[in-house]
Amino acid sequence: MRRGVAVDGIGTHNARMWERLARADIPYTRPQGVPPKSDAGKRRFLDDLTDGMIAGIDFAGMRVLSLAGGGGWDAILFAELGADTTLFDISARQLDTVRRLARQRGTPLTFVRGDMRDLSALGNGEFDLVFHKHSMVFVPDPQRVIAEVARVLSGDGVYGFSTMHPITLRMYESWTGTGWRLKTTYFEDRAIASMDPTWEFGQVRVHAPTLEYGHRISDLVNACVASGLAVDGLWEWSPGYDAGPAGSDDDLERQLPAFIRLRARKLANGARGSRSRIDPPSPPAFVRPPERSRPSQPRTRGR
Ligand SMILES: C[S@@+](CC[C@H](N)C(=O)[O-])C[C@H]1O[C@@H](n2cnc3c(N)ncnc32)[C@H](O)[C@@H]1O
Repeated sequence: MRRGVAVDGIGTHNARMWERLARADIPYTRPQGVPPKSDAGKRRFLDDLTDGMIAGIDFAGMRVLSLAGGGGWDAILFAELGADTTLFDISARQLDTVRRLARQRGTPLTFVRGDMRDLSALGNGEFDLVFHKHSMVFVPDPQRVIAEVARVLSGDGVYGFSTMHPITLRMYESWTGTGWRLKTTYFEDRAIASMDPTWEFGQVRVHAPTLEYGHRISDLVNACVASGLAVDGLWEWSPGYDAGPAGSDDDLERQLPAFIRLRARKLANGARGSRSRIDPPSPPAFVRPPERSRPSQPRTRGR
């Protein structure tokens, strides 16, 4: 990896992990399904992929940034539906996957490799729409990403992003036999450790301990506010609601949302709007509670 692309060791580590995952060709690293050939069909496919978050927006003539969108269909479909589209990702392999597909289809796309926390390769107000799916979890400082997105958006531009739900992310793999527990409190900012960071798809098993952060919902909303973005939609959902075995991810996601999604619009009249605003007070500093005693009965894990 070229030095200087990631802004810190966390970016470098996660870039390495995504190179590893892409080399193993796991499903998250290649476009899933095949979109129909007609424009109407492509539009339906893209609306589905973007969870309806930007339904109704006409992409023709728009300038769209697909942020951390390597390995997915979205950049290609934005471009084929008429948008001047840039794909930005930290992983060279994730970019290459889309580059190859775009070449085969004759789809014009611009590719930029970098860390989502530093969009200095892109100019102020260059985009009307920034679409950013499921990857804020890979950085510890979403405020930085959101401020950069606000800078590259044009006045009235739209930012749609999703990430893992901060409460549910703290509970995966924590089944005690009778319920789940939080791996860290909601107020701690450190990476949420995975007990088994092996990504498994059929025969393919890849050890890739990505560093993942569960951002508090208030922090995401307040970062938008601080950057002059007005939040106009907030959703919490799971990909499915069928009951799995007790303690399974499916069972957890049936009861708590797997993802959170926000849509925000850049205020057209200046970074912080025309009216004076009162910043919300800072929350009190987190103080680690006194060590709790261990449960007297050993617990069995459900998975
Ligand atoms: C779960 S994939 C999402 C890909 C695409 N958005 C999709 O839905 O198909 C996460 C992507 O985030 C990228 N990524 C991780 N950390 C990044 C960072 N700091 N800056 C830019 N991209 C990053 C990875 O390379 C990977 O392509």
